[in-house]
Amino acid sequence: MTRADDDSWDLASSVGATATMVAAGRAVASRDPKELINDPFAAPLVRAVGIDFFTRIADGELTVADLDPQSAPRVQANIDEVAVRTRFFDDHFAAATARGIRQAVILAAGLDARAYRLRWPDGTVVYEIDQPRVIEFKTRTLARLGAEPTAERRTVAADLRHDWPAALTAAGFDPAAPTAWIAEGLLIYLPPDAQDRLFDDIDALSAPGSAVATEYVPALRDFDPDKARAATAEFRRHGLDLDMPSLIYHGERHHPAQYLTAEGWQMAEVSRSDLFVRYGLPAPDPDPDDPLGEIIYVSGDKP
Ligand SMILES: C[S@@+](CC[C@H](N)C(=O)[O-])C[C@H]1O[C@@H](n2cnc3c(N)ncnc32)[C@H](O)[C@@H]1O
Repeated sequence: MTRADDDSWDLASSVGATATMVAAGRAVASRDPKELINDPFAAPLVRAVGIDFFTRIADGELTVADLDPQSAPRVQANIDEVAVRTRFFDDHFAAATARGIRQAVILAAGLDARAYRLRWPDGTVVYEIDQPRVIEFKTRTLARLGAEPTAERRTVAADLRHDWPAALTAAGFDPAAPTAWIAEGLLIYLPPDAQDRLFDDIDALSAPGSAVATEYVPALRDFDPDKARAATAEFRRHGLDLDMPSLIYHGERHHPAQYLTAEGWQMAEVSRSDLFVRYGLPAPDPDPDDPLGEIIYVSGDKP
């Protein structure tokens, strides 16, 4: 499986399946006694997609204890990371709405259920952008589950490598109003030039007072697909038929905090380890076999 400029997918294939994987992590983290997150929609959404491996994880039929002892600590750290990263982006939206922002954009929304589970102030509009089949599936499945959005939810079926601002604007987005943006788990699936265009577009669409949060993976510079493949061999042994390393664009790319700083934003960074500590978890042990390593969580404001 290789990437192409115009490739597309649903939630059971290619990059779409990574959204199902992250949602499976949220389902597990939502049962964890540490109670860092509670996403009641994660498990039913994963079940509806129907990738057996992720369904068994989301339902607790396959647990970290069932994995080989070499992979288990890394997978547990990845699940804990899904929990702390969920909190990081939840807190980003909470801070933005607390200071009066009423327009939010979830880029690459996948199976993110924030438009259904966060407490948005009255009058908040939440835009979700993702590939058409991803958007359509989530909307239909959550409606079937009887879920009601907690904000005015507007969906935008678009490819984030192409002219998504036109689609967002057509859906009613107001560039004169400050916006809270997130791009969670997206950048590694974009070519470096598409990442730059994404931030150029975010900047062009952001009124003063807007806020953004995303993450940066320094290890992409030296990312070795074969090493990553070896690190995920245990998933294949349990039946997952997905070559995740081939979905990632690796090599040099801009650090989003530096890129947006150059566009006049005021940016802050926190490492994955520090994020664990912020949310009350011990920092994960350094793992030389972790293909993505120490992720940097990035957030900032446009003055
Ligand atoms: C790892 S998932 C993250 C989903 C969600 N943000 C979360 O954290 O649960 C990556 C998401 O990026 C979306 N994505 C990647 N490249 C995209 C593109 N070019 N256009 C639209 N969506 C894209 C995928 O469809 C998928 O939903």
